[in-house]
Amino acid sequence: MAATRIEVPRSAIAITLNGERTAVEVDNRTSLLDLLREQLGLTGAKKGCDHGQCGACTVLVDSRRVNACLTLAVTLDGAEIHTIEGLSDGGELHPVQRAFLERDAFQCGYCTPGQICSAVGAIREAKDGWPSHVTEDLSAAAVVLDDEEVRERMSGNLCRCGAYANIVPAVLDAAGEGSDDGTDLPRREEFHPIPSVEEVAG
Ligand code: FES
Ligand code: FES
Repeated sequence: MAATRIEVPRSAIAITLNGERTAVEVDNRTSLLDLLREQLGLTGAKKGCDHGQCGACTVLVDSRRVNACLTLAVTLDGAEIHTIEGLSDGGELHPVQRAFLERDAFQCGYCTPGQICSAVGAIREAKDGWPSHVTEDLSAAAVVLDDEEVRERMSGNLCRCGAYANIVPAVLDAAGEGSDDGTDLPRREEFHPIPSVEEVAG
């Protein structure tokens, strides 16, 4: 008996990808991560677990961070998407990218694109007053980030190399310097002064 051929539904969508209007046809089962990596050749977002558990695939959709592995591309018609490839402005790194370099906030780098996109989203969420599980003032217009807030807000991004000790200060640095809306968020040193060698040796 001849095998029955099943037609896989496909859809045409138009997205704005890193500032470029892009029209694509997708298999309706395609995740945003597979669309980016397999169809559009943008391999910055990484496939770690493919199950929404590691954050390696994080990108920004309409300025909010999402797990690209859990997002069906067909739902994104008309959306504006930013990936790690689109964060820098010409030759100028995004403040979060610069802070990760300056703080040496990575080892193998596999999780880093997701960490950076997630940090961009987290900083914006805090400026917009979105509370996290550890926020005390739920009515604040903007949430001031500190170590605990960053750890909580970035808890969906795992780093198998354990670079967290440098990722947290990098995010705080960027939150302080990347302010473009007049919000003057304090830098890391204002919360936890870094002790001198003499103080540590005691
Ligand atoms: S690959 Fe998407 S969360 Fe792990
Ligand atoms: S730097 Fe290697 S997994 Fe994070």
